[in-house]
Amino acid sequence: MRILSGVKATGRPHLGNYFGAIRQFIDLQSKGEGFYFVADLHALDLVREADQMREYALGVALDYMALGLDPEHCTLFMQSEVPEVSELMWILGTVTPMGQLQRAHGYKDARAKGKEVDFGLFAYPVLMAADILLYRSDVVPVGKDQLQHLELARDLAVKFNLTYCPDFDPQTGEGGALKLPEAYIMEDVAVVPGTDGRKMSKSYDNAIPLFASDKQVKKSIMRVVTDSTPVEDPKDPGSCNVYALLELFCSEEELAEIAERYRAGGTGYGDFKKQLLAKYHETFDAARARRAELEQDLGYVRTVLDRGAARAREVGRQVLDDVQRACGLR
Ligand code: ADP
Ligand code: TRP
Repeated sequence: MRILSGVKATGRPHLGNYFGAIRQFIDLQSKGEGFYFVADLHALDLVREADQMREYALGVALDYMALGLDPEHCTLFMQSEVPEVSELMWILGTVTPMGQLQRAHGYKDARAKGKEVDFGLFAYPVLMAADILLYRSDVVPVGKDQLQHLELARDLAVKFNLTYCPDFDPQTGEGGALKLPEAYIMEDVAVVPGTDGRKMSKSYDNAIPLFASDKQVKKSIMRVVTDSTPVEDPKDPGSCNVYALLELFCSEEELAEIAERYRAGGTGYGDFKKQLLAKYHETFDAARARRAELEQDLGYVRTVLDRGAARAREVGRQVLDDVQRACGLR
């Protein structure tokens, strides 16, 4: 079974990215052959500064490795280092109905906000379909927000196969040049709240970063918004952002004990934040140390990515050959 997923290189990862996505890639890597890539081509649409682009892209590779994707067991690579993906994107574009792209969330949201939309954003889902189809992926772990893109990938595979592959059977999915992927909707981690209580996101300046200095981490955790219930009064864990974040880290028993202290009164939010900070360090300090080591050994990281791109190209080349033959480009 081939498992494939990617992370867009648009900034530094935060708790939401970890609990919502990366942790689940890591858990899945033992279930099949993992292909995990850094979506640098997708990031180009947002990052317009070359040095920053390089930093973010390498950063995602370091994050993957530090958090536990094991290059001995899975293939790690940069999207742009497999040029076959761009060609497949073009070919898929020729069977993509405009209407379907006009209904894509990213494009619709950008339009609704009155942003100037470029072709890159419009075609984003086609490139994502190419990512998925180029490697004959069986399973694609994504957050709910990406489900629409996955459905497009399936639709385009069916459309291409129906158009060009006489042996294709849409009932079984067999006999086509392109394999139909399955979505693996990642376990529904409740949306991770940011320091202001809205969804944690790079775009809202409310993120708790995974890899930042102790000082920055502490600052962001201390910034989590709480109400003004006095220390001695009982507090409601259910409506508290600090508690919602503690839920990500703590066992059932620990949570029961914390909830009890909320309801009993006598403990201030500052103490719960300190507990959150301790949990953060307990969970991430090993990965943070590993990332710092990897940063000192970029030659090794480069070797991993080179090896990954070679392996990905080996698979991708065969699929692209099949596709080219099917549509008469070979
Ligand atoms: P951001 O909103 O910070 O730009 P991305 O859109 O790059 O994050 O998110 C990448 C993946 O991380 C998403 O597909 C989603 O699964 C996960 N993710 C991001 N933010 C959160 C969050 N606050 N809670 C849960 N999952 C999240
Ligand atoms: N669009 C995904 C995101 O924003 C990233 C991505 C690009 C991806 N290509 C992919 C995810 C292929 C899974 C498969 O999170």
